[in-house]
Amino acid sequence: MEEIKLVLVSGSGKHLYVRNLNQDYHCQYGVIKKEDLKGVSGSGIVKTNKGVELPAFKPSFIDVFRKIRRAPQVIPAKDMGSIIAETGMGKDSVVVDAGTGSGALAIFMANIASKIITYEERQDFAKIAAENINLLKAKNVLLKNKNVYEGIDERNADVVTFDLPEPWKGVGAASAALKPGGFLVSYSPTIPQVCDMLTAAKEKGFIHVKTIEITEREWEIENRIVRPKSQTIGHSGFLTFLRKIK
Ligand SMILES: C[S@@+](CC[C@H](N)C(=O)[O-])C[C@H]1O[C@@H](n2cnc3c(N)ncnc32)[C@H](O)[C@@H]1O
Repeated sequence: MEEIKLVLVSGSGKHLYVRNLNQDYHCQYGVIKKEDLKGVSGSGIVKTNKGVELPAFKPSFIDVFRKIRRAPQVIPAKDMGSIIAETGMGKDSVVVDAGTGSGALAIFMANIASKIITYEERQDFAKIAAENINLLKAKNVLLKNKNVYEGIDERNADVVTFDLPEPWKGVGAASAALKPGGFLVSYSPTIPQVCDMLTAAKEKGFIHVKTIEITEREWEIENRIVRPKSQTIGHSGFLTFLRKIK
C-alpha cells in the first residue's frame, strides 16, 4: 500500500488521506489540484474547486497506524493503552509479543519500547504483519514465524504479551523469557480462558496482579446537546496482568 503523504481534515472532523501528490485529489468536498497538494510543505490549508478549505498536515504515527491492514482481530487502542500504562513499558523495555496477528499491538508498543520480538505461527498473517511493520517503519520489531508454545528464544524480557487462543500453553515459555518482576499480560475474549490461564500461571510461580475489562463510552457534544453515543465499543477482551516473582 502506498504511504500516506498528507492528512486533510474537514469541518466535521472527517480525516481524508492523500497518498499520491502527483494527481488531483477527489473527495466529497470537491477536487484539490495536485499543485496545491504539493504546495503544502509541512502544514497549511488547501482549497477545493467548490471553495471548501481543508487544513492539511503531514501524517503522524497514529494516522498511519489507523490505516494498517487488518487480518485477524486487532486489540483496540483502549486495551493497548492499558497494557502500556499498567506495565510501565518505556524506552528501555524489551517486549516479547505473541501472536502477532496483523501486528497492531507489536507496532503500537514499538512506538514506546526499545525492542519488540513478536511470534506468529501462520505464514499468511506473518506476511501481513511484516507489511504493516514496514509501513510504520518500525525497525525495532523483530517478527518470528514460529509457534510460541514451543518456546521463546529471548531471555530477561521486561514484558510478555499474549493474544492467543490457548495462552496457558505458553506460560512456561513466558516464564523462561521474563526477568524476575517482569510482566506477563494475557488478552482473552472469554472468562474460561482467563481461568485456565490463571491456573497455569500460578503453577509456574506468577502472581495475579489483576484482571480487568476496559469499557469506553464516547459522547456526542453539539453545543449544549450532550449525550452518550448510542453505539459504543462493546466487549473486546479481558486483560490479565501477571508478574513473575520466581
Ligand atoms: C487475535 S490475533 C492477534 C492480534 C494482535 N494482537 C494484533 O493486535 O494485531 C491472534 C494471533 O495468534 C496467532 N497464534 C495462535 N496460536 C499461536 C501460536 N501458538 N504461536 C504463535 N502465534 C499463534 C494466530 O495465528 C493469530 O494471528
